Amino acid sequence: MVTTRAPEDAYTAEPFVPEEAHSLPTLRRAAAQCKGCPLHQNATQTVFGAGNKDARVMLIGEQPGDQEDRQGKPFVGPAGHLLDRALEEAGLNPADAYVTNAVKHFKFTQAEPRKRRIHKQPTLREMTACGPWLAAELAIVEPELIVILGATAGKALLGSSFRVTQVRGTVLEEEIHGRRERLVPTVHPSSVLRAQDDKDRKAAYRGLVSDLEVAAHALS
Ligand code: URA
Ligand code: SF4
Repeated sequence: MVTTRAPEDAYTAEPFVPEEAHSLPTLRRAAAQCKGCPLHQNATQTVFGAGNKDARVMLIGEQPGDQEDRQGKPFVGPAGHLLDRALEEAGLNPADAYVTNAVKHFKFTQAEPRKRRIHKQPTLREMTACGPWLAAELAIVEPELIVILGATAGKALLGSSFRVTQVRGTVLEEEIHGRRERLVPTVHPSSVLRAQDDKDRKAAYRGLVSDLEVAAHALS
């Protein structure tokens, strides 16, 4: 007998998302069991969003990193620390934000077991597969504003033609998962950490803070 493999397009979290999910804890429990795409196979755990359902702003990153994968919480590693600092400087309280990622499992390469795990970019198919979780989070939190952190989150929400350099620091209005949303895109905090030297890093950080100030202003 020939076993047919599901086409890769069939990757989707949809069957794992409870239909009547009215609360974040229900969603989080269900997401822990998600096998909607192959990324669950090698990661430690699902890293679901964190924060209050009444949050006015939702921050959306790419995918959990090494630390997030171990701890099960988004933005708790180096990029997260930098983000918290930038948010505060821009006048946004990190504790008032709901923080999540476009993709909820850590994707990585590893040369050998016990070697460092290196972040690998999720494909459009994986982002699309994971989209139902983000849609469910948006439906519950109903943020007044979404902050898009970097190109991957932008593509996941607004399509593959998204270019962060063209729209960063501006307030966009778009239909996302059937809801009219206001969004402010900015760079990913990891890109600040990757800057070549101190001068570039400072400039990149200032750029991030100034985009977040646009978000703070849009909320006031
Ligand atoms: N980078 C992300 O995009 N998300 C995290 O949660 C951590 C690092
Ligand atoms: Fe499910 Fe998203 Fe994890 Fe894929 S990345 S298994 S769709 S939670």
